[in-house]
Amino acid sequence: MRQTIALDRSWFMKRGNEEAWLDPSFTHEDWEEVSVPHSNLELPFNGFDEHSYQFISTWIRDFDLPKDLPADQTARRVFVDFEAVMSRATVFVNGLEAGRHSGGFTPFSIEISSLAKGGRNTLAVIVDSTEDPGIPPFGHVVDYLCYGGIYREVAVRVQERSFIIDAFALARDALLPKKALDVEVRIDCLPASGPFEVEAGLLDPATGKALARGSCSTDGDPGWIELHDLEGILAWEPGRPTLYELIITLKAAGTAIDAVTLRVGFRQAEWKAEGFFLNGKPFKIRGLNRHQAWPYVGYAMPERAQRRDAEILKRELGVNLVRSSHYPPSRHFLDACDELGLLVFEELPGWQHIGDAAWKKQAIADLEDMIVRDRNHPSIVLWGTRINESPDDHDFYAETARRAHGLDPSRATGGVRYIEKSELLEDVYAFNDFVHDGGPTALKKPRRVTGLGHDEPFLVTEHNGHMFPTKRFDQEERLAEHARRHARVLDAALGDPGIAGAIGWCAFDYNTHKDFGSGDRVCYHGVSDMFRIPKYAAAVYASQVDPSERIVLEAATLFAKGERSGATLLPIDVWTNCDEIVLWRAGERVGSYGPDYGSFPNLPHPPVVIRDLIGDRLATEGFSEGDQRLVKELVGIIFSKGLSALRWRHYLKLGLMLARKRMSYADAEKLVQRFTMGWGQSDESVELVGFVKGEEVARRRYGGDARATVLEMVADDAAINADGIDVTRIVLRLLDQYGNIHPFAQEALQLSAEGPGCIIGPRLVPLSGGVTAFWLRSAAQKGTITIMAKGSRFTAGPLAIEAV
Ligand code: GAL
Repeated sequence: MRQTIALDRSWFMKRGNEEAWLDPSFTHEDWEEVSVPHSNLELPFNGFDEHSYQFISTWIRDFDLPKDLPADQTARRVFVDFEAVMSRATVFVNGLEAGRHSGGFTPFSIEISSLAKGGRNTLAVIVDSTEDPGIPPFGHVVDYLCYGGIYREVAVRVQERSFIIDAFALARDALLPKKALDVEVRIDCLPASGPFEVEAGLLDPATGKALARGSCSTDGDPGWIELHDLEGILAWEPGRPTLYELIITLKAAGTAIDAVTLRVGFRQAEWKAEGFFLNGKPFKIRGLNRHQAWPYVGYAMPERAQRRDAEILKRELGVNLVRSSHYPPSRHFLDACDELGLLVFEELPGWQHIGDAAWKKQAIADLEDMIVRDRNHPSIVLWGTRINESPDDHDFYAETARRAHGLDPSRATGGVRYIEKSELLEDVYAFNDFVHDGGPTALKKPRRVTGLGHDEPFLVTEHNGHMFPTKRFDQEERLAEHARRHARVLDAALGDPGIAGAIGWCAFDYNTHKDFGSGDRVCYHGVSDMFRIPKYAAAVYASQVDPSERIVLEAATLFAKGERSGATLLPIDVWTNCDEIVLWRAGERVGSYGPDYGSFPNLPHPPVVIRDLIGDRLATEGFSEGDQRLVKELVGIIFSKGLSALRWRHYLKLGLMLARKRMSYADAEKLVQRFTMGWGQSDESVELVGFVKGEEVARRRYGGDARATVLEMVADDAAINADGIDVTRIVLRLLDQYGNIHPFAQEALQLSAEGPGCIIGPRLVPLSGGVTAFWLRSAAQKGTITIMAKGSRFTAGPLAIEAV
């Protein structure tokens, strides 16, 4: 049976490569000791030179194989499995070269059967992290960074002479009461060493109950097993992502010699000109793109952080699909998507540029490796078979689509483009639509984009992004407009029956090359920042979930009196799934406000837009309904666009009303001042109370008198694994007396961790937009890690995290 030994800890790494280092007798103990996932260089948050991590490094580690490992190399096979190395690896075992691999996003296995021996062995990897123009995505410019290092897991695997290479379980008839599963199993064996028997058993992991069994025999060709008439199986749905376990066993002469376990979900995904259909029902896609990058360590984050991203997307951002732009993500991320019911569009590595024949060959290999690794994930509903935003290349893209269908006949292909009327060789026309610039046009019409005289399955795969970069610490009006732009495009996509949905650019800010971003190597395109802390735009997505799932109520304002240009205060967009918001100021009920269906007719939950702060209060001042409406309209204009936006007709109406009510202009000014700015008032509190079907479900307080009150420190996890690899995020937020982030506080914080763990990144950090975060990594030792954050005004902690 296979034996897998994780090679995660006790690596030694050094910049450069020298032949002497590869000699097994070479002492590397004075090198930096690291665990993988690991980045070859810890980077600053921003403002660094992207050449700094583009170097060659050598990674060395000893590993032990069973002492009784047969010396006869034909009796067993040994491999080293790498999940990702950026971007070229040359692997040596006991001083001799075992193999090479190019491509930084796909897994590879190097056979070391002839080099490995029982007992102690030495593994060395020369990692070339320069941007080789022969490897996708390199060759021109790229709007993201490909950080160096061995940034995913490594393991050594000992097999019998014959073993399972890979298994693909294709779920069929997902909507029928009796479902079916076609299982293809590829094995590696010597010619004429069979016959072998392959068995497949389907289990319900929740109950441990065996649901079906099947078997086939083979002499070495792929084995096919059909499990049919499967009853009592639940379909995999986003709201109920039911997974089953498939155990595949390889037997020779009745003895099990290898086994693998897959997870299976039964679901039907169809792309039609009328949209996307999941399990037979129309399903509008509300998605975000995600880069797998974090501050300081780039791509090198372990399982928990990968899973957490999926959780943030599903549970905090409320999206129903993520595009893994622009490369295959970590398998942990995909596992979490399967478990959470978050759909995935996965694509091959690349960005705009297509290289020469060798480059294309590498791209095709990347595509195939991606599909073979990931085709058992029910969450994946589309393969991206074009290099993101590249020009047409008929032969290349006919081939990528053909290969994708060959390896996985069950899934549709898409190809992301920004060039209109480009050749459609895939099943879905996937288009990055950046037409929205804040004006009236939110999206282009699919037929105009495709140039075809008929409808095709059509998906918007990016919008916004560089059209409106927005920092979490930007001025409020920009943050609010950023949110609105995402909402406008999403609304348009949801309202067009010819568009399957829209995937916004993007979930999280990310580091990038000098040719992109804000000049500090950051693209501030996320609806959340690089620490995964939300901007207002995040609430656009979050608030689209059903209130039964989660209540969201986020006002895109600070309620400060001078943050917006011209001291305006309006409009106030409240991103919420409540159907009514009641506004209170200084303990006085102002009025009730409802969702803005007029501006956002297609969003499941349009924002509640507060366009006046007067509410119902004029009624008690003796104003008729018509006059109330007029005052609210005029005040709304003044406090959203400024006095200069009033037209002569407004003044005329105002004049008539003042005459009617025997009020002077000064009286009117005083009234408006009292009901809007409220200068000098003693109680500045504002309260938003959210209702769903008449029942109060949420309450948020704000105030123009906000002051920094408490530094809050919260960890994502109370305990992490004491393995020297596991991490958790710790978020620091400076809150005002109402519990809201106080965004402009400029406080430097000294971080410390005592006990078996260490802080990733700098220990002295600024609050940025009132918030910062960091990740804590465990040491390979159990115990309590105590975290403190000290500033000149505020201190948070001690916070205890258990390493278990
Ligand atoms: C797109 C590209 C993305 C990102 C985005 C920024 O053109 O596909 O990777 O660069 O622009 O808005």
